[in-house]
Amino acid sequence: MFLPGLEKALPVETERLRLRPLLEGDAAEIARYLNDFEVAKGLTYSPYPYTLELAVQWLRDVAFASQQDQVRYWAITPRESGTFLGIIGFSLCRAHDKAEMHYWLGRPFWNRGYATEASRAMIPFLFTQEPTLQRLEINHRSCNTASGRVIQKCGFIFEGELRAYVKRFGHHDNVRFYSFLRPEVIKKTCVWEKSPLQQESEVREPPGGSSPKNSPKGLKT
Ligand SMILES: CC(C)(COP(=O)(O)OP(=O)(O)OC[C@H]1O[C@@H](n2cnc3c(N)ncnc32)[C@H](O)[C@@H]1OP(=O)(O)O)[C@@H](O)C(=O)NCCC(=O)NCCS
Repeated sequence: MFLPGLEKALPVETERLRLRPLLEGDAAEIARYLNDFEVAKGLTYSPYPYTLELAVQWLRDVAFASQQDQVRYWAITPRESGTFLGIIGFSLCRAHDKAEMHYWLGRPFWNRGYATEASRAMIPFLFTQEPTLQRLEINHRSCNTASGRVIQKCGFIFEGELRAYVKRFGHHDNVRFYSFLRPEVIKKTCVWEKSPLQQESEVREPPGGSSPKNSPKGLKT
């Protein structure tokens, strides 16, 4: 069942995945995978141990914030089975036309390229859905190499590393920050696949594409 607000995350399909709105019934799987210390270790703010009650409350909070257009969250599932694999989503800061991306997968589903595939679909989708959005940011604790790799594979632009920025499980960890600005996503999306954002790029660029000196730094694939 949908909690009102969650249905605002419209379904998106990729080659292998279906990103669908979260359901109240996902709480058990969310609790199961977030109660895994290896998953919790990658996340900065998720409580550990994690319980079913926390998952139910988190879904209610997301539904409420989604109703207010402050967040959008999807369940990552395989196209064929619909099994819950993990979560991808955004928090939206409308005052500054920016958003932040978040994701996690249950440990049995790691290292199959799912986070990268989901992110590559959702980044242009978000910019298409939010025409005023200018900036998408993401960060990871420097010790979280897998997340850093996903971010690099998506082509995010590295902005810097802040030292001892968060405390997690007793350690003061550095955090690495990255972003995409809107024109950079349009160009990146043209490389990944055809999408509605490509039309935006075709309108903006003269025939023959942009000159190399105007290409945003660091977006070579
Ligand atoms: C981070 C996470 C979402 C990645 O999901 P995933 O579906 O496994 O990611 P992908 O398969 O798309 O890519 C993972 C990449 O990291 C690499 N990787 C995985 N573990 C690694 C490690 N310990 N050290 C270095 N690289 C590692 C993989 O080899 C792969 O890179 P490659 O394609 O160049 O080989 C998943 O590990 C996870 O949910 N972790 C816990 C929660 C979390 O950290 N969320 C992100 C918070 S910022």
